[in-house]
Amino acid sequence: MLVLPFEFRMPRLILSGPGCLEKLETEISRLGLRKPLIITSGEMERTIYLASLVEMLERTIGETSKYTAPSEESDHLMAREGANQFLKDRCDCIFVMGSGSTIDTAKAIGILTTNGGYLKDFQGEGKVLHPLPPLVAIPSTGGSGSEVSKCAMVTDPEEKARIAISSPLLIPEIAVSDPLLTLSLSPPDTAAMGLDAFCHAVESLTSRKEQPFTNTLALSAIKLISDNIRKAWCDGEDIKARSGIMLAGILGGVCTTNSSLSLIHAMSNPLSVIFKIPHGLTNASLLPGWADFTHLACPEKFKLIAETMGYKVQEMNELDGARKGLEAIKYLCEDLEVPSLEQMGIDIDDFERFLEKMTDDTLKSETAQNNPRAVNRKQILELYKKAYL
Ligand SMILES: [Fe+2]
Repeated sequence: MLVLPFEFRMPRLILSGPGCLEKLETEISRLGLRKPLIITSGEMERTIYLASLVEMLERTIGETSKYTAPSEESDHLMAREGANQFLKDRCDCIFVMGSGSTIDTAKAIGILTTNGGYLKDFQGEGKVLHPLPPLVAIPSTGGSGSEVSKCAMVTDPEEKARIAISSPLLIPEIAVSDPLLTLSLSPPDTAAMGLDAFCHAVESLTSRKEQPFTNTLALSAIKLISDNIRKAWCDGEDIKARSGIMLAGILGGVCTTNSSLSLIHAMSNPLSVIFKIPHGLTNASLLPGWADFTHLACPEKFKLIAETMGYKVQEMNELDGARKGLEAIKYLCEDLEVPSLEQMGIDIDDFERFLEKMTDDTLKSETAQNNPRAVNRKQILELYKKAYL
């Protein structure tokens, strides 16, 4: 096997498992920090987990400053507001507790505090020049993998577009992935979160930028999700199943950082920005169509997906095995009642009005180029239409 040169990055420390938030205290006292900016949003603000984090930071470090993001959706105005607060209050580190999008907001705030300028200046790969303040990321949902990734997606509401920033400097110093924080997630949110992580894994595994480390992690993530997500969807309090999904979220995030995403995310981003639909849900709606379109380009990978998801395919030829992989993915989405774009409430006239723009945005996206099967405008339009019905 020819292994092409590759690199592999992840946070300096990952704490994982039920109750691991408590273990953060020992680590904090070693870091020599002076004043944290605590970033959170929405529901999280009233939880015992945030109260316990604030209490821990005040006990070990002293004074803190708190920024509550006004929306779950990260946008560049929020990033500016948070960065101004960080500088005004003379903070030296960031602790974020919240959804993947809130963690992206924290990364954007970190970029502006040490690099200045405008977020658009940093769009793309490797444009961030100066390291961010130490960042500790504590996800409350998990599937985005932002707690371990080098990416931040920030919405530009005026342009109805996303500013996608990617740099190894965005990888948090510490990720704390505690499944106890996810016990109250609803079944639809559980599906959206788990399938986002599933997309990270299958896109990474089949990407043109795939590499040996991430392939192993991607298969582990696929197995964890396949084995656990239905259980977590049926019983949100099933801590074993929740732990499996959280771990898959970390693995998926490490995969995206080191071998990239591909067509699902390229198509999903315009959809979620324009129609204000959670990222995990738009990914899930595109997943079966993507698998159908892509499996012929790398049947060996889809056969592996089938095997990892419990299908007996060892005796089958590659193509038959790949079709089982496709079947496994379709059943996964059906079992979790993934809605079509129409069922999500997108009006058909609005959908058709934005179809060309979404297709243009997909074609412009670098991640679309990573798909193992090259895709053209007509095929993207068809894939969007398939996800609508
Ligand atoms: Fe994602």
